[in-house]
Amino acid sequence: MDTTAGEQLRRVAVATLADVPDGTMLMVQVDGTDILLVNLDGVIHAMQGICSHEYFELDKGFLTGDSLTCALHLSRFDLETGEALDPPAELPLARYPATVEADGTIVLGLPEGPIPINE
Ligand code: FES
Repeated sequence: MDTTAGEQLRRVAVATLADVPDGTMLMVQVDGTDILLVNLDGVIHAMQGICSHEYFELDKGFLTGDSLTCALHLSRFDLETGEALDPPAELPLARYPATVEADGTIVLGLPEGPIPINE
């Protein structure tokens, strides 16, 4: 379930689909918060860009199938749910709703105020 479900969301354009080809990821910043975009089979997933275990940038990790592996301690996270699949990470990655406009602009739905992160 998305962390932001049920809240009033602001729409924030962060990149274009051309910036995140299929099978790749891109870190963007919104209000100083790192957010990771992942293109999995043409669908954009947006999640917190810093690992839920310790402070480490997830764009330095590896995409394998439908999971993302943190490069520091090798916890894997499910890209669809954010769930931590292996220790040492326990908390899921916060996810944010992402849509792609007709012109390819990637728009996130983010709450007003601080962007929620699990840490
Ligand atoms: S910092 Fe990511 S698994 Fe430890």
